[in-house]
Amino acid sequence: MARDVVEQVMQDFAGEPQDLIPVLQRIQDVDGYLAADTISRIARWIKMSENEIYGVATFYAQFRFSRPGRHHIKACLGTACHVQGGEQMLDVLQRRLDIKPGDTSEDGEYDLDRVACLGCCALAPVVTIDEKTYGQMSVLKLQRLLDERENRN
Ligand code: FES
Repeated sequence: MARDVVEQVMQDFAGEPQDLIPVLQRIQDVDGYLAADTISRIARWIKMSENEIYGVATFYAQFRFSRPGRHHIKACLGTACHVQGGEQMLDVLQRRLDIKPGDTSEDGEYDLDRVACLGCCALAPVVTIDEKTYGQMSVLKLQRLLDERENRN
């Protein structure tokens, strides 16, 4: 039987404090997030408290602590999107999905992230769902888009 990813990664590192970030990256690359149980195991192995590990990991936006949803939504809050109402788009998404950035909706359908720039500032404000980019969004357009997706399911 194949060993789990945490065990495999532990074999490849010495368990020194400086290994923490690459270890977490490797695990997240495979699992898609860092489960609470994973953090506990790493804490025992690397001899740091779970709080210390969360303290370090939450500093880096790349780490997730909940299982990714089936669909990934990104709300851009880069400068161009911010001045064009990106914050309102994020508010709509948070209220509709009942989650905060970095979390996954209860039904596992969506996860939500806020990002710094999606590289298409001329389309601000921008929201992406999976690979699709939705530009020049408004509260109404975003509500309609979410309604359409909801009605398809
Ligand atoms: S700031 Fe949003 S796409 Fe660049």
